[in-house]
Amino acid sequence: MKQDNMHETFDVERIRSDFPILSTKMNGKPLVYLDNAATSQKPNQVIESISNYYRTYNANIHRGIYAIAVEATDAYVDSKVKLAKLVNAKGMEEIIYTRNTTEAINIVALGWGGANIKQGDHILITQMEHHSNLVPWMLLARRNGAVLDYVKLDESKSMLDMQSLEEQLENEPKIVAVTHVSNVLGTINDVKHITRKAHDHGAVVLVDGAQSAPHMQVDVQDIGCDFFTLSSHKMLGPTGIGALYGKFDILDKMDPVLSGGDMIKSVTFSDVTWNDLPWKFEAGTPDIAGGIGFGAAIDYLNGIGMKSIRDHEKKITKYALEKLSGIKHLKTYGLGKEDLERRGGVISFSIDKVHPHDVSQVFDSEGIAIRAGHHCAMPLVEEILGESAVSRISFYLYNKESEVDRAAQAVELVKKTFKVG
Ligand code: ALA
Repeated sequence: MKQDNMHETFDVERIRSDFPILSTKMNGKPLVYLDNAATSQKPNQVIESISNYYRTYNANIHRGIYAIAVEATDAYVDSKVKLAKLVNAKGMEEIIYTRNTTEAINIVALGWGGANIKQGDHILITQMEHHSNLVPWMLLARRNGAVLDYVKLDESKSMLDMQSLEEQLENEPKIVAVTHVSNVLGTINDVKHITRKAHDHGAVVLVDGAQSAPHMQVDVQDIGCDFFTLSSHKMLGPTGIGALYGKFDILDKMDPVLSGGDMIKSVTFSDVTWNDLPWKFEAGTPDIAGGIGFGAAIDYLNGIGMKSIRDHEKKITKYALEKLSGIKHLKTYGLGKEDLERRGGVISFSIDKVHPHDVSQVFDSEGIAIRAGHHCAMPLVEEILGESAVSRISFYLYNKESEVDRAAQAVELVKKTFKVG
């Protein structure tokens, strides 16, 4: 049950008390965790749900008819039902568990793409994509002799250029794959609009929701996309489990990508028929503990409310953008604080003449975890932003303004250490 009216009483200290790691130290300083776009921390409720499964009802699913096997099966299925509700899929038949977003996109590229992309066809992605929504399409294009096109960024280097989208759609791409939120720029793309335009040109649409599903209300039916992908570990759940949402009709027509146990209805020495959705796409014993932990994470997110989480992150992002914009020799990327409706809680930045790895090391010595590098988006960082690497802070529901203050102090320490300005 969502309690989105809780924003008034959003209690960050109470939330933090659920996350044991947030009261630990790194390099002797209280940990400030600002690398949430890479992975999120886990509350006790998630950790305990996994430990409880292994301690009290560990059994394989869909096989045993004894009590703990039924309990494990129910908990795993229940997690899918919860995820289906969270993203407003029509039912858990449309939710396939994968290892992560990357695997989910690969299933679409190999399964749907392998069958439908032919020599000379166009595949359309954007210049803003993470490698996970770029490399599988490049590989597919190479294998099948297709053409990979990109929607350009506009002059702000922060947003997709809608004119470029229109132009690329004239090539009648078979599929359009686009990130919902950029893991480098924080930009929230208007995926509903893009989906509508792509559908007008007969394309299938995949939305990469790795950076959106953890932070905002997602409604796949409202977006209208055919596929949507996400990772549990970025949304308080365990690593090793993610999801592919697909419209029932399209999944129903697709052949499985992996095959073996559990994904069949019947097998003879000469034939095989596929299991019902979603099991057709989950060959072998799945990550049962991961699914159960993911279910607990979804319960936790619902307990706070996705709208409250988004509101909290907007507030802290605004605070951080204000704070950072006052620092000389520091440049931030992406939209500014006046554009918070189109911006998530990811802030990439550079400090004049200091390599981001050095920035990150100084932050580390201060107990602050941030990411530095190309963020698995090399073409965007190198060819569009013109940098070999950038530093990045990224927020979640448990971050607070005093942590932004500590990050700002760390920036001053970087400048002092490297004699900037
Ligand atoms: N995709 C993750 C990030 O942006 C790993 O850090």
